[in-house]
Amino acid sequence: MASKATLEKISALCKRRGFVYQSAEIYGGLNGVYDIGPLGTLIKNNIRHEWHKSITSLGKEILFLEGALLGPHAVWQASGHIEHFHDPMIDCTTCKRRYRVDELEIERPCPHCGNTTWTDVRQFNMMFKTHIGASAETGASAYLRPETAQSIFINFKNIMATNRVKIPFGIAQIGKAFRNEITPKQFLFRMREFEQMELEWFCKENDVPEFFEFWCNERKEFYNTIGITTKNIRFRSHEKNELAHYSTKTSDVEYSFPFGWKELEGIAHRGNYDLTQHSKHSGKDLSVYDDETKTSYLPHVIECSVGVDRLFLTILFDAYDEDTIEGQERTVLHLHPRIAPIKAAFLPLTKKLSAQTKNLYHDITKLGYKTEFDESGSIGKRYRRHDEIGTPVCFTFDFESLEDQCVTVRDRDTLKQERIAIDQVANYLKKILE
Ligand code: GAP
Repeated sequence: MASKATLEKISALCKRRGFVYQSAEIYGGLNGVYDIGPLGTLIKNNIRHEWHKSITSLGKEILFLEGALLGPHAVWQASGHIEHFHDPMIDCTTCKRRYRVDELEIERPCPHCGNTTWTDVRQFNMMFKTHIGASAETGASAYLRPETAQSIFINFKNIMATNRVKIPFGIAQIGKAFRNEITPKQFLFRMREFEQMELEWFCKENDVPEFFEFWCNERKEFYNTIGITTKNIRFRSHEKNELAHYSTKTSDVEYSFPFGWKELEGIAHRGNYDLTQHSKHSGKDLSVYDDETKTSYLPHVIECSVGVDRLFLTILFDAYDEDTIEGQERTVLHLHPRIAPIKAAFLPLTKKLSAQTKNLYHDITKLGYKTEFDESGSIGKRYRRHDEIGTPVCFTFDFESLEDQCVTVRDRDTLKQERIAIDQVANYLKKILE
């Protein structure tokens, strides 16, 4: 279904329909930074909601945190990000373009100017650094977090002390992360400011294999539940030389993008690396007492981490299609109804029927469904617009509706049209959202 999608078509649709805008566009734009428009905001909210539901409906103990975006130097020193969070970069000495080494064959000419003289490979730390207050000394330096996870680790003791939880349990967070990517690209795929949904699952070392498998299965189920095509998802284990500095085992959930199989989510065994590091660097005991063995230990962590924006892009690729209906081309997003920004559109056949249609629209909106009333343009045009933003159904109010108290419901995917009673509209919507 997603085979007709290209990055150009997806980004053009996002702009045309107000899903996503280049940030500061009127000033020439800020590379790798985007603002999310009204419909995109609704989709991202739906994604967050589904993720939240997917991890809290399993009968497992999960607590939530909203950590600060700024962290002092000490945190990133302890976490290893100051030392290890680098990408290798290289510059063309002629046109001064900068590239990530792993994305370039340096035996070949510069893709921009065609020359072949390069600087040495240098390591580039991807964290955004800033200063707290007026002082420029190291002690006052701070960094925008490159992953949300560290705020969970540095609050581990606080959370254990203020909540009645026992190992195993999880701490989850949805929030912004920042990376000074050398070459931000592929639209929402590699951004400099983005949002992550991360779950850190704390457990005993012996239970790691069981929980690693459990979370891999649950994450697979999540993608299935939100309607992502199964054959476009695969799991790939990291080779030893790919592992992040904190990980002993990682399995990526990959999606088949038009630009290749790429990471959508990382599921990592972080061991007790982070708690060990923060214990050492802060001098605070972060261990947990085990009533059974009467000893203290640092729990191990399994992390599930996915970018909200990268998942948003994935969903758009997966849902995008083009077809021809009665000789007219249409672009359609086959979004899962729970992800769709607008759940239904209410369309009067002519403006003479606007008042009655609006009444119905208001009644449904009051029930909490995000719907739209749309009276402008031909009915065909209105259908096309809603197909393109992924609205699952349109209800059309016509002159017959005044007599039989029914509306015509048109399905975005099957194009089937049927008459249903106006008092059944709410039930109809409830059913498709289940
Ligand atoms: N805490 C672990 C961690 O941050 P990661 O593999 O670097 O691991 C996790 O990132 C997820 O965050 C990725 O799978 C991806 O979905 C998202 N992500 C990472 N960098 C991103 C970027 N520059 N732009 C958009 N999303 C990104």
